[in-house]
Amino acid sequence: MNRAADQPEPNPLREGLSTRAVPQPCAIVIFGATGDLTHRKLVPALYNLAADGDLPPAVAIVGFARRKKSDEEFRRDLEEATRKLSRQVVRDEIWKTFAQSIFYHQSEFGDESGYKRLAKRLDEIDKDHGTRGNRLFYFAAAPDQFEPILKHLKAAGLNDTCKGSWVRVIVEKPFGTDLASARELNRIVRNSFAEEQTYRIDHFLGKETAQNILVLRFANAIFAPLWNTHYIDHVQITAAETLGVGGRAGYYERAGALRDMVQNHLLQLLCLVAMEPPTDLSADSIRDEKIKVVRSLRRWSRNEIAANVVRGQYAKGAIHGDPVLGYRQEENVNPDSQTDTFVALRLFIDNWRWADVPIYMRVGKRLPKSATEISIHFKKAPAVLFNKDLHDFNVLVIRIQPDEGISLRIHAKVPGTSFHIEPVKMDFHYGTSFGKASPEAYERLLLDAMSGDATLFARRDEVEQAWAFIDPIEQAWHAKKDVPELFFYPAGSWGPEAADDLLARDGRAWRVTETYSLGVPVEVGKIDQKLKKLWQESEGAVTRASLMNLAVYSEEQGSLDRNTQLMARITENHACRAIVIEADCNAESDRVDAWISAHCHVSRAGSKQVCSEQISFRLNGGCTTQLPNIVLSNLDSDLPLYLWWQHEFREPMDPQLWTWVDRVIYDSRPWQDFQAQMRLVESAQAEAKQRIVLCDLNWTRLDKVRFALAQFFDHPASHHRLDKISKLRIDFASGFRSTALLFVGWLAAQLNWRAEKTNGKNKLQFISSSGRKIDIEIRQRDGQPIHEVALTAADIEFVVTHAKCGDLLEVSRGKPGGKRIPQLMPAGKDDPVSLMSEELMRGGPHHVYLHAVGCVRDLL
Ligand code: BG6
Repeated sequence: MNRAADQPEPNPLREGLSTRAVPQPCAIVIFGATGDLTHRKLVPALYNLAADGDLPPAVAIVGFARRKKSDEEFRRDLEEATRKLSRQVVRDEIWKTFAQSIFYHQSEFGDESGYKRLAKRLDEIDKDHGTRGNRLFYFAAAPDQFEPILKHLKAAGLNDTCKGSWVRVIVEKPFGTDLASARELNRIVRNSFAEEQTYRIDHFLGKETAQNILVLRFANAIFAPLWNTHYIDHVQITAAETLGVGGRAGYYERAGALRDMVQNHLLQLLCLVAMEPPTDLSADSIRDEKIKVVRSLRRWSRNEIAANVVRGQYAKGAIHGDPVLGYRQEENVNPDSQTDTFVALRLFIDNWRWADVPIYMRVGKRLPKSATEISIHFKKAPAVLFNKDLHDFNVLVIRIQPDEGISLRIHAKVPGTSFHIEPVKMDFHYGTSFGKASPEAYERLLLDAMSGDATLFARRDEVEQAWAFIDPIEQAWHAKKDVPELFFYPAGSWGPEAADDLLARDGRAWRVTETYSLGVPVEVGKIDQKLKKLWQESEGAVTRASLMNLAVYSEEQGSLDRNTQLMARITENHACRAIVIEADCNAESDRVDAWISAHCHVSRAGSKQVCSEQISFRLNGGCTTQLPNIVLSNLDSDLPLYLWWQHEFREPMDPQLWTWVDRVIYDSRPWQDFQAQMRLVESAQAEAKQRIVLCDLNWTRLDKVRFALAQFFDHPASHHRLDKISKLRIDFASGFRSTALLFVGWLAAQLNWRAEKTNGKNKLQFISSSGRKIDIEIRQRDGQPIHEVALTAADIEFVVTHAKCGDLLEVSRGKPGGKRIPQLMPAGKDDPVSLMSEELMRGGPHHVYLHAVGCVRDLL
């Protein structure tokens, strides 16, 4: 964003051509060139810059490392890695030219002569490649090598800038392990390079969405007035990874999650969210504001740390169905290790803007999903008008990765004659909106360093302030006594329960982060990434506005295909993320297979395009225990979860699953033991603190008949007849006895009838509150599920019957045997798609249903 003092005047011919940073010719010297970072990130990033035409031809890459290697061998190694890891497919002709500027320089880091040779070699490269004496030294070696490297660079005069050229140094994290070591490192760097030459990299700042935070906040007038303690309830920042420690135990054992991620990446994200608007876009103006945020972070006393910071370590578990080791069993990890692989924090920024707004952060390895996001939870609207019964907040989510984008959860009225309000999501996806993949963070950062723009790099005082905040926590964890507990969590879960308690104590919860034919097979770990790609590829894909997550679960073999078809039809009218699961608990192998598909179509209900995506899973064997993790890690996070359970419930009912479900949809019709099933549903509901709405498709089936019967009594002049009902007859089709009984339960509950006696299987007697007897007969007949209902009140008979055409109800009233003119009304259909569509369109707690069940529970 800003030009460094050592950068030449801009090229006047560039004016009007591009606003991007213009890198200057230079030699990039990478210390630690045979390491992971060079292969995985740096060289693929440089290749992509070259392929996009962003790298001037006069850029040379010199790898400095200890191992013996020729230029050719080095190029071959890098080519192999780049082909594997590059964002875009490597094109032979581009690689060939790019590789000609790659060189290898073998030397020990502590060998003075190696640096003299390097100086000579760089001079030659300047001559041959036109790199003009500009040097960018990249420190990708282990931190304990920084000191000798810096010392020898200085001794060889490589830190000197000749007239018109520049020298810069990029320092990789970890930048120290505490405040004292960071200060010492800063001192050592300063001995050789000035602060303006020093670029401390935090690759999170190079991520497209992180950069967009400032644009979102300061280029949109609508957010500025709301961005403060008056309107924001709290903020959450989550950085979750499925990966474990991998081969980095040597480093990680000493670092842990707090040092590895919170001290740098998470605090940087927090600064971008919380900082005041800078006076201009210069690197220092932005960094001046960021540092004020860290300075304002509330510091805790030793005693307060345990209450505000939770540390955890992963134990063995499973990721996407595959068993994985616990941290202590990983290679090179101490079997008694106390290292934190998970941290959750409750922070406060004690300044005018953020006073009393809790900031919850969590970061962890071996969590069920890889996702980084920031969510701003706004305060509830006043509890008047529509908001009396609403429990959802407006939430603005900034998805850093994957599926980079921004979404805003708002409330909307569900179309229809009733006033039912549901949360919907306005969703912006970088992929589908700009149709262009975001560059990797390292691409942007390397480009900025070559252009002399330090905005996205950490300044010395920022790093030190961050350590000053982290140090007391680390000290408490390593104290001799009263050490806060290290909590263990199974790999594949969302961390220890203590992290949930951190929010629960404040009456809040963590946001769930977010992923017709079966679609394309996909690796479980790549679902989000691949879905994003699918959307990018689907022509005309638009910004989507999903309404819900709809998951269907069945243990019936072959249900995956059947449910895929059903879901495809249901989603034609209900934009959602559909998740179809078939579980085979008896399978011998433990496997999870997954497929994805994404569709937009004009809805049957109108001319609008409805877009949905589907993820299908087949869970085999023991991995069915993974159900909660599979479902929870693939939700579209802001939307309610509707779980359609097509199997009988049975114990144990996993509590983790039920706490996330907003509605559970089932069909009680085929239940053998209604009481037992209901008990299990109710226990799930209790687990979810009564938040789950129970949706029984057997009840939905009655909708139209109930409506038809109810309308007889809409007029006040007809009300008195309700007190005169003496007879009720219901004709039901085979298999729908429970449906008929539910109908009886509904009338009994609403009209205050009490069951008196049963006369055989199909004759019942109820007593009204005024002591009147009501005789009820339920009869099995051929026809529709509830074929006919006839109600007698004094001398009038009210009849609802299915018309011959099947999709209409004939509704009539009159004296028995007398002439009647029937009114026609739509009849509900009994297929699963219609029932589900009906169910999804309506909302609200179904207390009427529960009362109906209560009245006939013993009969069902
Ligand atoms: C690094 C940490 O800085 O960031 C790693 O050292 C972590 O432990 C990584 O895995 C995460 O980065 P990203 O870009 O993959 O989310």
